[in-house]
Amino acid sequence: MYSKRISCIGAGYVGGPTMAVIAAKCPQYKVNVVDVSEARIKAWQTDTLPIYEPGLLEVVQAARGRNLFFSTDIRTAIRESEIIFVSVNTPTKTFGEGEGKAADLQYWEKVAREIRRESESPKIVIEKSTLPVKTAQTMENILNSNGKKVQFEVISNPEFLAEGTAIKDLLNPDRVLIGSRETPEGLKARQEIVDIYANWVPKERILTSNIWSSELSKLVANAFLAQRISSINSISALCEKTDASVQEVANAVGMDTRIGSQFLKASVGFGGSCFKKDILNLVYICESYGLHDVAHYWDAVLRMNEYQESRFVKTVIREMFNTIVGKRIALFGFAFKANTSDTRETPAIYIAKKLLEEKAEVVITDPKALENARLDLAGSTGELDFVSDPYDAALGAHAVAVMTEWNLYSSLDWEKIYKSMEKPAFVFDGRNILDHARLHKIGFNVYPLGRPPLKHF
Ligand code: NAD
Ligand code: UGA
Repeated sequence: MYSKRISCIGAGYVGGPTMAVIAAKCPQYKVNVVDVSEARIKAWQTDTLPIYEPGLLEVVQAARGRNLFFSTDIRTAIRESEIIFVSVNTPTKTFGEGEGKAADLQYWEKVAREIRRESESPKIVIEKSTLPVKTAQTMENILNSNGKKVQFEVISNPEFLAEGTAIKDLLNPDRVLIGSRETPEGLKARQEIVDIYANWVPKERILTSNIWSSELSKLVANAFLAQRISSINSISALCEKTDASVQEVANAVGMDTRIGSQFLKASVGFGGSCFKKDILNLVYICESYGLHDVAHYWDAVLRMNEYQESRFVKTVIREMFNTIVGKRIALFGFAFKANTSDTRETPAIYIAKKLLEEKAEVVITDPKALENARLDLAGSTGELDFVSDPYDAALGAHAVAVMTEWNLYSSLDWEKIYKSMEKPAFVFDGRNILDHARLHKIGFNVYPLGRPPLKHF
C-alpha cells in the first residue's frame, strides 16, 4: 500500500520534525521514527511533544497514525525499510583523543552496526546527522563487513533547519543537499532521495554533489553563519568605545547585496547545539591534515564568541559599582534563541554561572525553557531561583539582563517593572530588543550592546 518505506533512527530536534514533514507531504510513504529513548518516543505519540517548535504539532497531527509512526522498535524499522535516515546526536568528545574538539561518533557507529546486523535486503543509509568529512567511508566500511552480501549505499543529506523556524525551513528550504558516490549505484540511490524531496521542494533547490562536498558543506555553512555573528560581535565592542551604533553599522554594511543583511545581529554570543561543536570539528579536521593556519582561523570564531560572553559579564559587574554580591539579577530568557525550549550551549548558562560565582542572587525566567534551565544549573551553588512570570522575576531586582530575544520582553510594562525594582535600576540588553531611549526616560540605566550606555549618573 505504501510506495516507499522510510525509517529514521534518532527522534530528536532533527529526526522528529524532518520526518513529520516528509510524512505530511508524502502520504504515499510509510515513515517510521525510532529512538532508544522510551520517554522521547512516548512524548512523540502524544500531543505534548518532546520539543517545542512552532507549527510542529499540527504537522505531526496531520500524519501520525496515517503514515507516520513513532516507536522504540529499531530492529523492525530497519528490517522493513528500504531507506534509513540516521539523525542521532554527534556531540563533541568529552574524553580521550580529540577531547573537546573531535566529534563523538559512538552513537553513530552503534547505529551502523545495528543496521548491518538487522538488514536482510538492500538499504540506502542516509547521513542526516552532521558528521566529519569522510565519515561515509567509515560507514561503508562497517556496513560492508557483513558477510551477508546485502548491498548498502551511503548518502549524505545534511540538515540545514534552524530551531524555532524548523517547520518553515523544512517546508520551504533554501536548498536540499544530497551527496553520493558517483558510481551507477550511488547515482541511483541519490535519485531515490531526490525523488522524496521533489514531492514539495522545487527541483532547482535540490542540489546534488559528491559525497565529500556534501559532508563538508554542512560544516562550512555553520562555520560561515557563526563567523558572521562573531564578526558583528567583535564590532559591537568597538562601537561601545567609539559612540557608533552596531545596529546602524550592521544596516549600512548589510545593505551591500554582496554582504547581505542576515546574521548580523549583535548578541551576547551565539549558542545552540551545533555552531560550537561543528566549528570545533572543522578545526580538528584541519589540524589532523596539518592545516594549522586554517584551523587557527576558524578557531578565532569561537574565541570571539567566548570573549563576547565574558565581556557581557564584566560590563554587568563594572557598571554595578564593581560588586554584585547579594544583588538580585533577573535573567530574561534562557533558551539559546527565541521560539525554542532548547538551552544547549546557551550563553545564559555561562552568564548565570559567572554571576553566581560573584555571589549575585540570580533569578531566571523564560516562557519555554525553565525546565531545561533547572537541569543545566542543577549543580550550581548560590542563590538561584526560577520564576515563570517576568514581573515576579524582576520584583526587587537590581538589574535585568536580556539573554533571549523573546518578543514578549519588548512588550512588557517596563514602568511597572521599574517601580518594582531596587534603585538605581539597571537593564543590560544582550539582544538589543528593547526601546532603550524609553527605558532611560522611565529611569533605568540602560546598557545596550554595541552602543554607548544611557545612564543617569
Ligand atoms: P538530539 O539529541 O535532539 O536527538 C538525537 C536522538 O538520537 C536522541 O533522541 C537519542 O536518544 C537518539 N539516539 C542516540 N543514539 C541512538 C541509537 N543508538 N539508536 C537510536 N536512537 C539513538 O539531536 P539533534 O539536535 O536532533 O541533532 C541530531 C544531529 O543533527 C546532530 O548531528 C546535529 O549536529 C544535527 N543537526 C542538528 C540541528 C538542530 O537544529 N538541532 C540542525 C541540523 C543538524
Ligand atoms: C543553526 C543554523 O542556522 C542552521 O542552518 C543549522 O542547520 C543548525 O544551526 C544546525 O546545524 O544545528 P540554530 O542553531 O538552530 O541553527 O539557530 P540559529 O538561528 O542559527 O542561531 C544560532 C545562534 O546564533 C543563536 O544563539 C542565535 O541567537 C545567534 N544569532 C543568530 C545571533 O547572535 N545573531 C544573529 O544575527 C543570528
